[in-house]
Amino acid sequence: MPTKVLIYIKVHIINPTKNFMTRIEQFVKEQADYYGRRRNSLMPILQAVVQSERYLSEEAMVAVAEELDLSTADVFGTASFYTFLDTVPRGKNIIKVCKTITCHMKGKDEIISTIEDQLKIKLGSTSSDGRFSLLQANCLGWCHKGPVMLVNDEIYTEITPEKTVEVIRDYLKKTK
Ligand code: FES
Repeated sequence: MPTKVLIYIKVHIINPTKNFMTRIEQFVKEQADYYGRRRNSLMPILQAVVQSERYLSEEAMVAVAEELDLSTADVFGTASFYTFLDTVPRGKNIIKVCKTITCHMKGKDEIISTIEDQLKIKLGSTSSDGRFSLLQANCLGWCHKGPVMLVNDEIYTEITPEKTVEVIRDYLKKTK
């Protein structure tokens, strides 16, 4: 079992009289009230946390495990399996460039270099002002219109370096 999981389990065992809820525990409880406390409620609740917090903190994952009566390792395992469930803090805008074969052949590397140059960040990192994270994603389901880029929930198809610069410029204006 990972050390981090053990630390959290220990904290909860030595603190059984805890009778207040943190903000994230309250949020997870509300999601569980809405989605239910079955095994198949796990994914929508994790997604709701990511949407709200922009990533899954350890505290959030422990809270989800407790609400759904699952093992912490189970929740950590699910979170680390799916790339869209971020477990590290990300920027306000998350840019994902499809890395799968069709988009790769249609020039995704050029798109990534363009973004790296424009935002002065490296693939996999977040800008120092916290405005952007640049990541790769598996197939986004628009292979016939590659290369494809996702910014937050907005999909951009048949993206070129020129179009990329324009799109990023718009987000730079929108996100001060
Ligand atoms: S390969 Fe890029 S969207 Fe499918």
